[in-house]
Amino acid sequence: MKLFDVYPRFPITPVKAKGVYVWDENNTRYLDLYGGHGVISIGHSHPQYTKAIENQVKKIGFYSNSIEIPIQKELAEKLGNLSGYPDYALFLCNSGAEANDNAIKLASFYNHKKTVIAFKNSFHGRTGVTLNVTDDPKISASINQDNFKVIYVPLNDTVAFDEAIKQPDVSSVIIEGIQGVGGLDYPNVEFLEYISAACAQHEVILILDEIQSGYGRSGKFFAHQHSAIKPDLITTAKGMGNGFPIAGLLIHPKIEAQKGMLGTTFGGNHLACAAGVAVLDVLEAENLMSNVVDVSAYLVKELATIPQVIKVKGMGLMLGVELAYPVDEVRLKLLNAYQIFTGNAKNKYVLRILPPLGVTKKQVKVFVNALREIVS
Ligand SMILES: Cc1ncc(COP(=O)(O)O)c(C=O)c1O
Repeated sequence: MKLFDVYPRFPITPVKAKGVYVWDENNTRYLDLYGGHGVISIGHSHPQYTKAIENQVKKIGFYSNSIEIPIQKELAEKLGNLSGYPDYALFLCNSGAEANDNAIKLASFYNHKKTVIAFKNSFHGRTGVTLNVTDDPKISASINQDNFKVIYVPLNDTVAFDEAIKQPDVSSVIIEGIQGVGGLDYPNVEFLEYISAACAQHEVILILDEIQSGYGRSGKFFAHQHSAIKPDLITTAKGMGNGFPIAGLLIHPKIEAQKGMLGTTFGGNHLACAAGVAVLDVLEAENLMSNVVDVSAYLVKELATIPQVIKVKGMGLMLGVELAYPVDEVRLKLLNAYQIFTGNAKNKYVLRILPPLGVTKKQVKVFVNALREIVS
């Protein structure tokens, strides 16, 4: 059998990884400033993380949600405390799209309404429901389109948002903490506060998609915490498991659980929770969020000294470097001539930087020097 060939791939085969580096089969070392698409939070193969998974699998790797799984409660308690949401409840699942799918469904269970407000350039996943709120018709099949009404609003446009939320039957608003795939734009504090108040007034559920921007990446646990809002639902995935598939939905106490309302076979399994607990422990013990703030400030300042860099977008260690021309070739040169992984975005002019959160100033300086040489 051959693979269903849907992924454009670089001809590189990493066989080993540690911290901020990966090595291919020829033992060539690469600086990973993309973290496998923003997934690697505490660093590749962190010893505390690998040990936690190893210990867990030796005891019990999996049993379904039909039995007691105490490590789920441990994860929920740690996540609640570290994220500043101790009074919210946690539903565990397996991927970002699944978390968003469940969030939109839960909002509709709660208020029995059907229309969703989403934003231009959004990306929320590739399931039936999430494709409908993802602003990219190219990845949507006929069956995914118009299965419920979605109103797309430009980011940070309060007038357009006001018009949308006045429409009948609006169930939820879904918004990214920082737009990842779209190109590193984010809702400003005033806009977040405005939509949060409007949602409360119209009894609409506010869903913050923190799948890429969460878990410390912005310098706060969640990117929306640069404002004072408290969304009704928060979704998380990528950095949550540092590569082990796990996702979560944080749920405001006003939304009550009913047996059978949501469910999944693999969600919250023992191994995924062991990975999730280790990630939170390391995030806290190694002060990774303050490293993000520190290294980000340094990197943004250094990038500003390159005349060809038009703008640095994003926050923390979720940054977009905008050039005056499409970045594809620059990205290839970084990879082939300098052994540095970076990402791209829907906006072709933006190079995406999503390193493990423990990256050092010295390591990002290597990238700045390489970029300067390439664009000069
Ligand atoms: C903001 C955001 N939401 C949702 C998703 C979908 O996550 P997954 O690929 O785990 O389904 C992604 C993935 O890139 C994302 O960046």
